[in-house]
Amino acid sequence: MSVLKALHDWIQATPPSLLLQKNEAWFMPVMQSIHIAGIGVVLACVLMMTLRVLGVAGGDRTVLQTQERFGPWLTGALWLMLATGLLIILCEPRAIDTVSFWMKMFLVVVGALVAWAFQRSVHAHAAEWDGTLARKGSVKAMAIATLVVWIAIIFLGRFIAYDQIWGKLSPSVSTGSIQ
Ligand code: HEM
Repeated sequence: MSVLKALHDWIQATPPSLLLQKNEAWFMPVMQSIHIAGIGVVLACVLMMTLRVLGVAGGDRTVLQTQERFGPWLTGALWLMLATGLLIILCEPRAIDTVSFWMKMFLVVVGALVAWAFQRSVHAHAAEWDGTLARKGSVKAMAIATLVVWIAIIFLGRFIAYDQIWGKLSPSVSTGSIQ
């Protein structure tokens, strides 16, 4: 039995999971709905900050003002995604033995680290960000790459339920937890 399958079975046998499984009929759709609403907030914040750095929108505010406006919402939404995501796993742990989920979590860590580094840099070098930095090709490329990372997270989130698309790469196919 794979480690992931053993972890899946262990979670599913815990008392909190058994309690949530009894209420799965309403608990899962409520958690998934909040999770999906959180995606909207995350994507809106990342998009607004990316468009400001690219100079496409929000030019009436400095990069620092834009980060201070959307940064807290992004942080709050990510904590909400973590909480609802972990509760979904506690109720129905199928996600953990999928390739999509672990690839998604890797990109969530990358995305969160980039957001944190951007916040620190904008606060330390606010004038440069409105001067030369935002006009640099490498900075614009990084902004676009960050947006692509968050869009990839959304696709991978949806692919969790269809992990068989990765064929034999998917542990869920070999363990049979996703048909
Ligand atoms: C921060 C930690 C996160 C955790 C632990 C997490 C966990 C999960 C889990 C367990 C599911 C349900 C999978 C299933 O069984 O079908 C899910 C679905 C999903 N997640 Fe996340 N997630 C997180 C963050 C995010 C973020 C940041 C995004 C996008 C910005 C995202 C996008 C999605 C999408 C699109 C789905 C499919 C929703 C559906 O159609 O039902 N997740 N996530």
